[in-house]
Amino acid sequence: MRIPIIAGNWKMHKTISEAIEAGREIEQVVQSSDVEVVICPPFTALSALSALGLTKVKLGAQNMCAEVAGAYTGEVSVLMLRDTGCQYVVVGHSERRELYGETDELVNQKALLALEHGLHPIICVGETLAQRKAGETERLVIGQIERAFTGINKAQVHEVVVAYEPVWAIGTGETASAEDANAVIVTIRQTIAKLYGDDVASEIRIQYGGSVKPANARELMKQSDIDGALVGGASLQAEDFGAIVNYK
Ligand code: 13P
Repeated sequence: MRIPIIAGNWKMHKTISEAIEAGREIEQVVQSSDVEVVICPPFTALSALSALGLTKVKLGAQNMCAEVAGAYTGEVSVLMLRDTGCQYVVVGHSERRELYGETDELVNQKALLALEHGLHPIICVGETLAQRKAGETERLVIGQIERAFTGINKAQVHEVVVAYEPVWAIGTGETASAEDANAVIVTIRQTIAKLYGDDVASEIRIQYGGSVKPANARELMKQSDIDGALVGGASLQAEDFGAIVNYK
């Protein structure tokens, strides 16, 4: 049984006080949900949110350094994230790949390091519009998964969450149709089955991300292989995020 996981990626939004307010509101609106709920605020707000002691809402970071410590000005390490009380970390978000040149190899290093130190990586994969138009979606996503999972052992796989986020659907209002999203997610699960076997593949949770809203959450969550959502814009307002979490 895969427990759905819905995570809010706040990206570069919210000061500490705004984050505290939203965190408290979200805790209220998701009270009766049986979904695992995670919010990923900016680094600066992690400790303050953690100090609130929320019970229904877990915390995740949006990125981390691929090194544990050292002369890496401006970076945040896995140990520092652990220190804040967060449990998840998004790795390989398409904005990191596109804007900051993150490669599959770097994403893999970060995922391995997160696992080694007890954080759950949320590994993001997904194709651009040009790649989709060229019919390359499957090949690309399979390659991203294979490279991201290099060195992750069978016993660690259930600690990982995968987020399938087609780049063209992020922040655009365009959502992949629920069926199309599910089809790619089935391909991802098959890829994991080839690497680790069917049992392991049937346990890993795979989210969809890209313009998830209260209006489309239920349709997406109804699909056979979609186990949750990674929500950007609509996670900034407690009311919308709550409506997504309470999709049933
Ligand atoms: P939107 O929900 O704003 O499209 O963002 C999706 C996303 O990038 C989540 O990581």
